[in-house]
Amino acid sequence: MNPIVEVDLNVLFEEAKNVLLNNRIGKFTKPAPALYPHQWNWDAGFISIGYAYFDMEQAESELRYLFSGQWANGMLPHIIFNPDGDGQYFPGISFWETWRSFDAPEQVNTSGISNPAVHGFVLQRMYEIAEDKDRALDFVQEMFPKIKALHAYFYSERDPYHEGLVYIRHPWESGNDNSPTWDAPLERIDFSKVKVPPFTRKDLNTSHADHRPTNRDYDRYIYLIDVFRKGDYKEDKIFSTTPFAVQDPLFNTILIKSNQAMIDMGRLIGEDIAIFKDWNVKSVAAMNDKLWNEQTGMYDAYDLINEERIEMEASSGLMPLFANVPSEKQAKIIVKNLMGPKFHQHHDQSYYLCPSFTPLSSKFDPKKYWRGPVWINMNWMLYQGLKRYGFRNEATHIKEDSLKLLSYYGFYEYFDPRKNLPQEKAQGYGSPQFSWSAALCLDWLSSDL
Ligand code: SER
Repeated sequence: MNPIVEVDLNVLFEEAKNVLLNNRIGKFTKPAPALYPHQWNWDAGFISIGYAYFDMEQAESELRYLFSGQWANGMLPHIIFNPDGDGQYFPGISFWETWRSFDAPEQVNTSGISNPAVHGFVLQRMYEIAEDKDRALDFVQEMFPKIKALHAYFYSERDPYHEGLVYIRHPWESGNDNSPTWDAPLERIDFSKVKVPPFTRKDLNTSHADHRPTNRDYDRYIYLIDVFRKGDYKEDKIFSTTPFAVQDPLFNTILIKSNQAMIDMGRLIGEDIAIFKDWNVKSVAAMNDKLWNEQTGMYDAYDLINEERIEMEASSGLMPLFANVPSEKQAKIIVKNLMGPKFHQHHDQSYYLCPSFTPLSSKFDPKKYWRGPVWINMNWMLYQGLKRYGFRNEATHIKEDSLKLLSYYGFYEYFDPRKNLPQEKAQGYGSPQFSWSAALCLDWLSSDL
């Protein structure tokens, strides 16, 4: 029995392992049993870390399967479709019309947008976990050029002003799908002037509407896909027509973190690492020059279409800690925000770390997707950052909160951050048996502090 989470950690380990095994279909693992029936890009990365503790072959297979859908221009799609799951999820294979692109692979069905570039740091974590280092090095050799091509795509196609900051062109690319950060740019889509292609949602067949994005959000998501289809997935054409192009601190943090991992791994295998160093020098400086907000002590997103900061206090604004972007002084300010009224303690209200959006805002919703709930992958990245800067107590706090939620309520997709809910109330939302919640739990259970 563990005094903090009051469960047998060996039992929790076995349960987490079973979540992955139950969601596995051959070469890849679904993010969740019903809601997400295909392979998702950044999910696959976190899932690989979990497998690395008990089945390295499967961990490698997840990334191999994912990169089998990489486009010729380096873009790595956010979904690799499982033909058997088509019909269970919208937007499915035919809706994306990726045949319009010369870059999309012919043999593999994919979406036409990407996801955060977690793969570099995932590969490094797999190498660290591996007992057979020779085998792990072979896998690093295999993946290195593919990950490099993905990063090159982001810097060449998604950084139109050569700032060192890449932009996302769909909220689903961020992974933080319906964060209030996207509200203002999305509200620019004027439905009196543009048409949304007809569609039927399928996510509400398996999830509660109160916990998922609204129908209006979906109209906007689908309208953007139509812009990409009409632009034949040509990035320059899309950039000149899209109403949504945002430089997001989380997306850029993850890219920087993976650049760092590629520098370390490139050294190990004798690859040229100069380009990763150049990218990072520019990106770290740009994050601090353009996205750091001196007033709030967090990083903002930047709207490239309206050329303005988006001042929203989402947890993505704390995440640059993960990639060592803030100075020691900035990091102290960020941690004060994390542990203070904005994210943790406000008068008699206390929140599990870390709400995805500040409870101080009227846009905070403790039940809705990315508008307030706690997400395990965000906690895991924050934890790594806190540890790296030497904030040991705060790192322990975030790990313990995560393990408490997982052990009390199960491996949910996201959790209500309010601590004052009666114990019997449901606190886990979205999908149960969620793969990355289980995979990252395995990582926590296998490492000290
Ligand atoms: N996560 C999105 C969904 O909810 C798509 O990537 O369907």
